[in-house]
Amino acid sequence: MPDNSPFDLAIVGGGPGGYVAAIRAAQLGARVALVEKDRLGGACLHRGCIPTKALLRSAEALLESKDASAVGLAVKDAAVDFEAMMAWKERAVAQQAEELAKLIAWRKIAVFPGEGRLVRPGSIKVGDELVAAGKIIIATGSLPSRLSVPGSNLPGVLTSDQILELEALPESLVVIGAGVVGCEFASIFSALGARVTILEILPRILPPVDEEIARRFQQILRSQGVTIHTKASLQEIRAEGERLRLLFGLGQEQQELVADKVLMAVGHRPCTDALEEAGLALRDGSVIVNERLETSAENVYAAGDVVGLYMLAYVASYQGIIAAENALGGSRQADYRAVPTCVYTMPEIAGVGLREEEARAQGISYKVSRFPFSALARAQLLGQPLGLVKLICEEPSGRLLGVHILGPRANDIIGEGVLALRMGATSQDLAHTMHGHPNLSEAIYEAAWGLIDSPFHLRRL
Ligand code: NAI
Repeated sequence: MPDNSPFDLAIVGGGPGGYVAAIRAAQLGARVALVEKDRLGGACLHRGCIPTKALLRSAEALLESKDASAVGLAVKDAAVDFEAMMAWKERAVAQQAEELAKLIAWRKIAVFPGEGRLVRPGSIKVGDELVAAGKIIIATGSLPSRLSVPGSNLPGVLTSDQILELEALPESLVVIGAGVVGCEFASIFSALGARVTILEILPRILPPVDEEIARRFQQILRSQGVTIHTKASLQEIRAEGERLRLLFGLGQEQQELVADKVLMAVGHRPCTDALEEAGLALRDGSVIVNERLETSAENVYAAGDVVGLYMLAYVASYQGIIAAENALGGSRQADYRAVPTCVYTMPEIAGVGLREEEARAQGISYKVSRFPFSALARAQLLGQPLGLVKLICEEPSGRLLGVHILGPRANDIIGEGVLALRMGATSQDLAHTMHGHPNLSEAIYEAAWGLIDSPFHLRRL
């Protein structure tokens, strides 16, 4: 007999916010419904984190093959087979999707395929069916935004979703917006051989990244052949045969540029279509929540991009876990003091805590230490000596305020910095912690020694 009693918890949206919330609720013994209109895994798995990392892997392998002779390998004529590369990306995504579906089934989470609409607290409409639940979590995510300049809907002007469906490598690509999405695609497509130009409206690239780190990355990106125009405001895109002509202002000047494809990477907007009938309070298009992830409606919680705070997959999962726990009787507050920024470029960029410009603006007394990867054996052996670790600590307490990394596997080794910040660690705590050798996290260790004395493997300071 099917159980027609209300679910303990129903979740709208099966991305990293929603499906992780569902698993957490199942761990706590709840009967859970998960409503998804597309595919479980959401933008992260199908159009974001995972497919881009598959392409990044191809780009990295290509660059490595070009350097193969330096490590005693004879590799001839490595070249991009774009079709095969896209097929690899599809396989990588499909494999993760299959595992996720098994996981959700194993947890006995009831999946309702279809578009869910919150009609009132306690009730979600999926097609003709009503799913009743004591508590509800909204985790409907976000969609890429487009600028409203003339021509922004022309064929060949792509969102970050559409660029992942390309059938051939464009000879030239203009990226509008030097945020995380723009820089990741610029890095990947340039490495694959496309001529890439970035147009960014602000005076600098990568607004969420420490200014010095972003500046150093900008130099590297330029040395890799990417043209970067900051303070550039796009005015119009015109079709020119198969190609696109872009008209933009650069300071006081008018400039033009012709390219095969244009990528719009100017941000995401929360998806709140599912909520129109329920009358949840919104601010600037995002669902308003408190630190317990409660919305303005009783028994309705929200998590992930729809909340509009960070729009990051791992923040979505973090919020989803807290929302699920609170929906099932808990009382946990979200804590955003240690949210890592992870940018998957070549080299990678990662950061957590205060950026130096923020510490300066807040009038905090602080000290900075830098350690270059070029002085680290493991980075040299990997053939990736570019970049540095930059630590910022409060003076005189030594409390760590910020960890910023540009370099190999920055997004893996930032984990140490995130934990250190969350635990309120000092530079001495880091310096007195043993680090394996030879290993990339030694750059954090050496930089920490730079704060309390001086690094061991550096002659010049
Ligand atoms: P974003 O908000 O991070 O960056 C947009 C960039 O476009 C900014 O630099 C902005 O100044 C610029 N911009 C805005 N209007 C412009 C204009 N008219 N002309 C030129 N430039 C303009 O948005 P993005 O990169 O699209 O990413 C969307 C969301 O997805 C973000 O919240 C991001 O953090 C997240 N994401 C995170 C990833 C990661 O953690 N590795 C990867 C991809 C996306």
